[in-house]
Amino acid sequence: MTASPRFQTQQPAVKLYDFHPPVEDFRSAVLRGLSQSQKTISPKFLYDKRGSELFDAICELPEYYLTRTEMAILHAHAKEIAVALDRRALVELGSGSSQKIRILLHAAPQVQTYVGVDISRQHLQEACAALMADFEGLDAIAVCADYTQPLPLATIPELRDRPTIGFFPGSSIGNLEPAEVIAFLKTVAVLGDLIVGVDLKKSAAILEPAYDDAQGVSAAFALNVLTRINRELGANFDLTQFEYRAHYNEKAGRIEMAIASLCDQTVRLGDAEISFKAGETLRTEHSYKYTVNEFQLLAMEAGFQPVQVWTDKHQLFSLHHLKQM
Ligand SMILES: C[S@@+](CC[C@H](N)C(=O)[O-])C[C@H]1O[C@@H](n2cnc3c(N)ncnc32)[C@H](O)[C@@H]1O
Repeated sequence: MTASPRFQTQQPAVKLYDFHPPVEDFRSAVLRGLSQSQKTISPKFLYDKRGSELFDAICELPEYYLTRTEMAILHAHAKEIAVALDRRALVELGSGSSQKIRILLHAAPQVQTYVGVDISRQHLQEACAALMADFEGLDAIAVCADYTQPLPLATIPELRDRPTIGFFPGSSIGNLEPAEVIAFLKTVAVLGDLIVGVDLKKSAAILEPAYDDAQGVSAAFALNVLTRINRELGANFDLTQFEYRAHYNEKAGRIEMAIASLCDQTVRLGDAEISFKAGETLRTEHSYKYTVNEFQLLAMEAGFQPVQVWTDKHQLFSLHHLKQM
């Protein structure tokens, strides 16, 4: 990061508002997902501390064009986006390592309040602390919460009676089914305007390696959820008996990520027993890809008006500014 006039040396404290779901919710969600005919686990459970670290490693991979392309779009249009931010409190959903927001904070020194919302508590706190250390005068607030649930932002004193704007990068919106996107956008409409990163449709030859890289980091990221279930829920998944797969379903316009069982086997999870047939899959993520027009239509159905869309010259990725109608 280049030297900034907002650089400071002392480490200020980060305020944490913790709405993290209890372990019991994790257990019941996992058991529910594993008892479906298509075994499923929500992608939000992929992000424990190790999962967040592995996701950061994915962002550095040569095959994973998404992060560097979205960052290039942000750099190219930072001044224009800074105008849209105005002096509003900036609320980032699924903030992860809060790297992309740095580009906007450099371009928008008038922004004094940043709220990172993420489910991965420790990673979130570290990211907010790093922002406070690097951007003088910035109040970075950590909200550990599930953004698919109604946002508890009204309970946060720093946001009371303050205009806000939402930032949702990383194409995380692609993890939602299209019908869920509409419900989600309606929920986050409390934030006012939104800046949303959306991955564009493209060939399987680019998409599949992006989600299943040669070094196996994407595979380690997905399989880590089994390690997490073993550790936190007392299960006995044998990771050598499962493998990661990613396939582009062109008709549905989505990458389908799953963990496949390599043999017939039974896994114990506390008192429960879960059987897998050889080749049976546990779905970990869908990542939907949209054309600009397809995404704008979804946003309009949710009550948003597309204001502006920025893309890269190869049409790999899009960044949408949406306003409420
Ligand atoms: C794909 S990563 C994107 C990280 C970062 N925003 C970026 O663009 O590189 C998704 C982030 O959202 C968080 N996350 C996933 N599901 C979530 C949920 N339901 N509620 C809150 N955070 C969630 C993860 O912990 C992770 O940091």
